[in-house]
Amino acid sequence: MNSCFSMVLCLVISMGAMMTQAAAVSAGKDDIQKSDFGKTADGTAVDLYTLTNTNGMAAKIMTYGGIITQLRTPDRAGKMGDVVLGFSDLDGYLKGSPYFGALIGRVGNRIAKGKFTLDGKEYTLAVNNGPNALHGGIKGFDKVVWTASPSLTPDGPALKLDYTSPDGEEGYPGTLKCTVVYTVTHENELKIDYSATTDKPTPINLTNHSYFNLAGSGDIFGHVLYLRARRYTPVDDTLIPTGKILPVKGTPMDFTTPHPIGDRLIEVGGDPVGYDHNYVLNSGGREFALAARVCEPTSGRIMEVYTDQPGVQFYTGNFLDWTLAGKGGWLYGKHEAFCLETQHFPDSVNHPNFPSTILRPGHTYHTVTCYKFSAK
Ligand code: GLA
Repeated sequence: MNSCFSMVLCLVISMGAMMTQAAAVSAGKDDIQKSDFGKTADGTAVDLYTLTNTNGMAAKIMTYGGIITQLRTPDRAGKMGDVVLGFSDLDGYLKGSPYFGALIGRVGNRIAKGKFTLDGKEYTLAVNNGPNALHGGIKGFDKVVWTASPSLTPDGPALKLDYTSPDGEEGYPGTLKCTVVYTVTHENELKIDYSATTDKPTPINLTNHSYFNLAGSGDIFGHVLYLRARRYTPVDDTLIPTGKILPVKGTPMDFTTPHPIGDRLIEVGGDPVGYDHNYVLNSGGREFALAARVCEPTSGRIMEVYTDQPGVQFYTGNFLDWTLAGKGGWLYGKHEAFCLETQHFPDSVNHPNFPSTILRPGHTYHTVTCYKFSAK
């Protein structure tokens, strides 16, 4: 009886130990989960992938627009929290989203009057932002369903998204084959690797439009920003670059030393007021380098942005107006998030002095941006 009891006890203890071990192993493993996220208006099924790395950092990405709907990173106590804005269901995105978390293409940012000339031919795009074309058009890459291929890679869980944009789509020339790979790396980076080829010359400027709030709620005035950019491209009142490249020194645009975002935001002016500017990175797009660092003092979260792009659009959610109900019922208000959209300069296609955005057949467009998270 006694020995039987001790055998059972032994079995229970060892099973318990095995289960704890299994739970520990699975908690510390790279993981990818797939779930249904509804259907678009034309009935196309949308999937949501959750990529979790060994540290528990997780990104939820859906096939519609390649949108990052959730990004959970640790605070200084190791507690995971969501640091991006978004909606709780697909409907929120379909009803109208200010590009929350989305892949942007073919051409991120603005093209003046929706017109450009390439190799002697004039092209006309839809005008969808005042007098200008913005973020790829009426149905840009943020509103198409991408084909997803998940995989566990040596760097961490990854999601490859493919989309072929047909010749003439949104007025752009050439069939453009695009691949974007998101990886949640073991170094707690969200790495975004973009590549594309074309069969006719075409402009291209891909980016991701995540809205960050490292505290998880509230305004972003206390977030401290360092931007490795001594110059920026000033804009007219429709946010089209004047063509000048000016130093930030001595202006509220200067983040070459860290400053709380809210400190000089009013001085920047604009209607609505706030930052919505392209910074010219010191790296010049010649190397993969640190572009920005943002520290949020209450949570201790730090986000670093590394890129090989020559520019970054720093946008402080100036157009958020408390009308969009996001995750957890938060009514997103002005200056409650910021974007750091790595990119070529806005309206490059109409400014010969800006780095070129033209991709030609036989060449491959390739660019990498990493958002790296830590806390202290
Ligand atoms: C970019 C633009 C902003 C705004 C947002 C989307 O960041 O520069 O002016 O259009 O996208 O609302």
